[in-house]
Amino acid sequence: MSPESQSNPLIVIASNRGPFSFKKHGRGFQVERGAGGLVTALGALAERHDVLWVASAMSDDDRAWSQHNQGQVQKVEGIRLKLVEHQPEEYEGYYNEISNPLLWFIQHQLWDTPRTPSITADTWQAWDAGYLRVNQRFAEAIAAVVKDSQRQVIVLPQDYHLYMVPHYLRALVGEQVQIQPFVHIPWPGPDAWRILPPAMRDTLLESLLEANRVGFQTEKDAFNFVQTCRFYLGAHAFGRRNAVEYHGRDVGAVTYPISIDVEKLQQLSGMQVTQLERSHLHTSVGDRQVILRVDRVEPSKNNLRGMQAYRALLEKYPEHLGKVQLLALLVPSRMEVGEYRDYLGEIMAEAGTINAQYSGTVWEPVRIIVGDNYMRAIAAMQMYDVLLVNPLADGMNLVAKEGVLVNNKDGVLVLSEYAGAFFELGEHALIVSPFDVYGTAEAMHQALTMPAAERKQRAAALHSIVTQADVREWFAAQVDDALRAANSQASKSSTSSTPEARQSAAASSASGASGA
Ligand code: G6P
Repeated sequence: MSPESQSNPLIVIASNRGPFSFKKHGRGFQVERGAGGLVTALGALAERHDVLWVASAMSDDDRAWSQHNQGQVQKVEGIRLKLVEHQPEEYEGYYNEISNPLLWFIQHQLWDTPRTPSITADTWQAWDAGYLRVNQRFAEAIAAVVKDSQRQVIVLPQDYHLYMVPHYLRALVGEQVQIQPFVHIPWPGPDAWRILPPAMRDTLLESLLEANRVGFQTEKDAFNFVQTCRFYLGAHAFGRRNAVEYHGRDVGAVTYPISIDVEKLQQLSGMQVTQLERSHLHTSVGDRQVILRVDRVEPSKNNLRGMQAYRALLEKYPEHLGKVQLLALLVPSRMEVGEYRDYLGEIMAEAGTINAQYSGTVWEPVRIIVGDNYMRAIAAMQMYDVLLVNPLADGMNLVAKEGVLVNNKDGVLVLSEYAGAFFELGEHALIVSPFDVYGTAEAMHQALTMPAAERKQRAAALHSIVTQADVREWFAAQVDDALRAANSQASKSSTSSTPEARQSAAASSASGASGA
């Protein structure tokens, strides 16, 4: 490998949802850019590295775009993109049966186990013909691009949709490629994984152990992963502090806490459209104190107990009546999954009963806005007095980071101890147990009545933590680690290809065999 090729590695990101979606428009296609941090981080990465993004074609129009380009890689807004096409029924099993809800619910520990889930023949069908098949197709698409590459190749599969990619990809491309998945959501300890039948569970774990290292949001997740492998893979898996040794291979369990695009968010919060959104919100809030939450409609976000805590606050501290508003911005999500539809109904019902009980002539205690409007969310985050982030489990929770960055009212963060963000921001937030409705009401009261100097000092500390760790660093740290490993592997294999090295390797393996 030439020094030039080593300095210009090929980085492949694989994720279910890609950076762009496409809409047919006349004879061509309109491109819609996803707002996620991953897209932005990649934009920065793409300035320095050769990056290819492989993602699912998620709609008919995405498929049409891919077919229009004969399934070849295309450059879109500076990013090289390849969409993988799946059969609709395979995708349905992979996405709506196995990834969400089964894996998501296990990893967020959301199951009500006396009743759900039941692993039925349909689940097995969704596993075999959906999850495995889609992952295999991803691996094939990646292998087709990287297998003849003369450069170092780093493949970064994202999240729980793609746990099987390391297995299929390794079989196609061998050890020359660095495979480094990142798990965005929590990794619970061994007990949570008992819900998966051993054949599914061990297959997933063994696949992840075919990677070179696996990235997690927090030390706790990495620790839990090591314990899960040790517990279920028995005699073959040895756990160490930050690694699992499996069949003689060392697989790192490394922490890379994700963050936000600080510069971009600051720029968006200064825009006129944000100001406009702020003044719209202001007409309903007036001079009242604002308790804000911004979440996808998602059982793990614990909106319902947040609402109950707000009711408890109004009951116990009537001095807040008429002077506070709970503003909940809810982004609809995964409405094909029954649990999510039901959850939205329950949130609305709870908000309705609070409003029915407490509304005055001009005061509405809870205001819910359902929709996906990022600029409105930024505007709302600028004006909160209290930001409520109380998930039952959350990989990181970027709202906590976005909020403390853009807020300009020295707002107080009320944060669940089960959000990944707790490990970075916890010291300067008010920490709650997500199950403790009473404690959450008390924390809201403490936040609403906190002296100005303390609010200021906490807000400044949070702001400074977030500005110091940008999403670009999150990506760069992963790429650096993979490159370092690839370089060391390349130098080992070039040393071991000298005649002396071959001789000494032969001698040591012979002595190993005779000593056994
Ligand atoms: C959340 C999770 C991510 C996950 C994504 C998938 O944002 O934190 O880990 O990848 O949901 O959402 P989607 O809408 O693509 O199913």
